[in-house]
Amino acid sequence: MYYPEELVEEVRERNDIVDVIGGYVRLKRSGANYMGLCPFHNEKSPSFSVSGTKQMYHCFGCGVGGNVFTFLMEYENYTFAEALKVLAERAGIRLPEEEYSAEARRQADLRSRLLEVNKEAGRYYYYQLKSERGGNAWSYLTGRGLTDQTIAHFGLGYAGRLGNELYRYLKGKGYPDELLVKSGLITVDEKRGAADKFWNRVMFPIMDVNNRVIGFGGRVMGDGMPKYLNSPETPIFDKSRSLYGLNYARQSRKNSILLCEGYMDVIALHQAGFTNAAASLGTAFTGLQAALLSRYAKEVYLTYDSDEAGVKAALRAIPILREAGLTAKVINMKPYKDPDEFIKALGAEAFGKRIQEAVNSFYFEIDVLREQFNLEDPEEKTRFFNEIAKKLLVFTEELERNNYMEAIARRYQVSYDNLRRLVNRQGAMQSVVIRSDRRERRQENTKKDKAREGMMQSQSLLLTWLAEDGELFGRIREIISPKDFTEGLCREVAEMAFRQCESGGPLRPADLISRFESKEEQAQAAELFSASLGELSGRGREKALAETVYRIKKNSLDAESRRAAESGDGQALQRIIMEQANLRKLHISLKNG
Ligand code: UTP
Ligand code: MN
Repeated sequence: MYYPEELVEEVRERNDIVDVIGGYVRLKRSGANYMGLCPFHNEKSPSFSVSGTKQMYHCFGCGVGGNVFTFLMEYENYTFAEALKVLAERAGIRLPEEEYSAEARRQADLRSRLLEVNKEAGRYYYYQLKSERGGNAWSYLTGRGLTDQTIAHFGLGYAGRLGNELYRYLKGKGYPDELLVKSGLITVDEKRGAADKFWNRVMFPIMDVNNRVIGFGGRVMGDGMPKYLNSPETPIFDKSRSLYGLNYARQSRKNSILLCEGYMDVIALHQAGFTNAAASLGTAFTGLQAALLSRYAKEVYLTYDSDEAGVKAALRAIPILREAGLTAKVINMKPYKDPDEFIKALGAEAFGKRIQEAVNSFYFEIDVLREQFNLEDPEEKTRFFNEIAKKLLVFTEELERNNYMEAIARRYQVSYDNLRRLVNRQGAMQSVVIRSDRRERRQENTKKDKAREGMMQSQSLLLTWLAEDGELFGRIREIISPKDFTEGLCREVAEMAFRQCESGGPLRPADLISRFESKEEQAQAAELFSASLGELSGRGREKALAETVYRIKKNSLDAESRRAAESGDGQALQRIIMEQANLRKLHISLKNG
């Protein structure tokens, strides 16, 4: 369904971005803008800025940005149509009725069509599980202790043995091959034709936080290999930012998450009443997943497998969780392998006890580390404490670090002062390393890169200025035109911006951002309107403006004259030289106000 641009623009204008984002992120006023902790990456001090005048957001840390639609699409994983619907409702605007004609379906964007295919597939698998043909799968699941209710809650299913039944079903619903292949559920081979990716497996639909099916895991019933097959990455399925079960866990209102490794662990935990369990999808835990978790909880209990691989995975996850500002604790499940087996053997109450006994992730790290050293040997003991000292450095809060130092000193019977000396020495060594790293990186930046970066900044500065000062356009329109914007997306943005200004209205960056399709471009456009104008006022401001206009124009004329010289266009060259001379005069008069 396509909506007219004016309607989209009305919906945008009637939803103040500060209000909308304020519902998700704690924002604090800072000058003309609002600042908060960026919800899209991990950070401890705010670099996420929301502007009421420009109706856009931009993160100086990770570079995301856009308007109110972009925000909801990124944050809630909505398609554009969904974001529009939510915001229209919020503002009390009635959207024209949706029609489900074939035409409308063709026009809907790829993401929503893929969501539809996944939903249909989920239904199909579920139906198969409940049918006679799914008898084996049903006994497999109930044999593993799952109740009918749990199976329905998680929408488990069964992919049959024929090898192309899902394909035939979806084909019958009118979905084209091309789309089905993009969903990852179907493969098309020239010789063998279309085939289902999953067959004769029990199916686990993977849902995003809004309960929409974005992919599947399928398990063999028995000991076959591979044990699990998963949907490949698609435009709607990004494993690094999805967590199985989070759609339910986030509503558990427990303020903590039980993070485990497998589908079956999540399901067993939920069935036992631990409805705050979620799992990463057979891949290493990522910072994006940590950022996602930190929206719903402050504390994460790692309940990874108790084997060596599980311990390793926990050690990798801990710093990532910490970085995201989450407190991590580790649950000991010995002698059982995973939560599923633990609960089956000892029951929910015993597991609840293990949660209470979970150790702080720092002690867990130290305990694992301790295994690697023979503390009877003085040399090894020293190395052990040096390693501890290194680890203590991750606590940047002095109070927190001191607390840990005290606890470690007590636990391993060393003097607090000795430990502190070690920590300080490690700290000094690390900062030397960091400083020399930075120097190397700086030297890599060639002069040319720097010049281009500087030009980018000037052009972004002028665009920002145009957005913030309604009078400015009238003053520069005779001097600067969109073709003077040479860097990256600046030209396209400037063309749109100038068109808006010429038609008389104020410059509306948020409207302009809507015109870009990809979120990368939207973020870049938002960044171009987010240059820092500093605290200049009066004459200082005028001077800076003159300087910026001059630099941009000079850069553009220089480039033009190089091109003219190369192509031997004498006439053009003459004109450019004139313009360059005029510019110098203009510069002097601007500078002297
Ligand atoms: P596990 O083998 O621990 O899974 O792998 P599990 O959930 O305990 O399996 P059950 O109890 O034997 O049924 C943990 C997770 O790693 C991924 C899956 O997401 C699984 O849940 N995995 C595992 C795969 O993607 N492929 C595999 O072949 C195995
Ligand atoms: Mn298991």
